[in-house]
Amino acid sequence: MSDQHAANAQFTPVISATGLFTPDQKITNEELVASFNAYVDKHNAEHADAIAAGSVDALTYSSVEFIEKASGIKARYVLNKDGILNPDTMCPQLPERPNEELSILAEIGVKAARQALDSAGRKAEDVDAVLVACSNLQRAYPAIAVEIQDELGIDGFGFDLNVACSSATFGLQTAADYIRSGSARSVLVINPEICSAHLNWRDRDSHFIFGDVATAILVEAKDLAPAEHWEILGTKLKTKFSNNIRNNFGFLNRTHPETRDDPDKLFKQEGRKVFKEVVPMVAAMILDQMDRLGITSAELRRLWLHQANAGMNRLIAAKVLGHEANADESPTVLDSYANTSSAGSIIAFHQHSKDLQAGEKGLICSFGAGYSAGTVFIQKAA
Ligand code: COA
Repeated sequence: MSDQHAANAQFTPVISATGLFTPDQKITNEELVASFNAYVDKHNAEHADAIAAGSVDALTYSSVEFIEKASGIKARYVLNKDGILNPDTMCPQLPERPNEELSILAEIGVKAARQALDSAGRKAEDVDAVLVACSNLQRAYPAIAVEIQDELGIDGFGFDLNVACSSATFGLQTAADYIRSGSARSVLVINPEICSAHLNWRDRDSHFIFGDVATAILVEAKDLAPAEHWEILGTKLKTKFSNNIRNNFGFLNRTHPETRDDPDKLFKQEGRKVFKEVVPMVAAMILDQMDRLGITSAELRRLWLHQANAGMNRLIAAKVLGHEANADESPTVLDSYANTSSAGSIIAFHQHSKDLQAGEKGLICSFGAGYSAGTVFIQKAA
């Protein structure tokens, strides 16, 4: 290797490995709809007089057919199935842990991180930084990333960043910039998502959308990386303010007596508007970046898109590739995992990337609340 090559490799970011933690409890659409409809019956019976008098609206059944047609989602993994499906609670029952115990978000993040480290043949002490990049942080501080850093035995630094569903690509660009600048050589980007705790399971329009999971990505300097890695060719981030996906939960409203069940303090969206506004924004951003990096549609072997809605992904992929994408070109994990916020595109990459050949290029792309979007173009090295 020439000196120039060695110097370049030292500052060239690559993805060395990924990890995935999947909870062992799963809810099918059939189970979810049965529980929701039991809640509807109960609500309507309890409020029968008010409904008859016109002062309370009767609730309407959800349907498996609607969910699959509108979203492509067939099931979701969760950390606590019973609490969600019980029509009296309809939220996960995840007891608070004492401060001496590892927090639940850190626990699932550590599981994904260990898998990524093992798969790269890397020891935790070789890592310089931990970024927890996710939508659903369970506390304000200390950072979950610092807790994970401690649990893994990493000497360096860590912090949390939240850009909703786009958090993973924002974390990837941050990690890549550390490698490009030389301020770190090995960075863990971890996306633990307990989306089930921010979802309003009593809201017919959105109760089917989310699931729980954790992913991890090891970003390193090319000269450190295992032979099989993915070079990061270019990254780009974008945000544009919108209220169409919003969650108002926070410490300023914690004293309200009804905060826990207040629909305004849970996930809310104008799904139609999100669909219409985000699809063109993301497609234009991807095409711009391809132009800037000199990558043609024909060269893009695979798209690992954010997993929110199958219809959105179909439209974005068609605009980018110039034809309707098949499952090999734009794989989905929505059917089994549902929307897992920041982790979705990383699950798709983790499960559907091993078959690509050296030299083939692909795109990891996320989008969501903010609005926010991120693109990470990569190329298989070996
Ligand atoms: N079961 C049965 N019917 C339902 C239903 C349910 N669970 N939820 C809504 N419906 C009905 C509505 O009442 C409406 O009926 P109407 O036409 O008689 O008024 C009809 O289905 C269409 O509802 P709408 O909310 O307009 O559905 P949609 O086709 O826009 O699909 C989303 C809803 C959320 C799946 C879709 O808008 C979407 O995926 N948007 C992208 C945003 C996203 O996924 N964001 C996640 C964060 S990144």
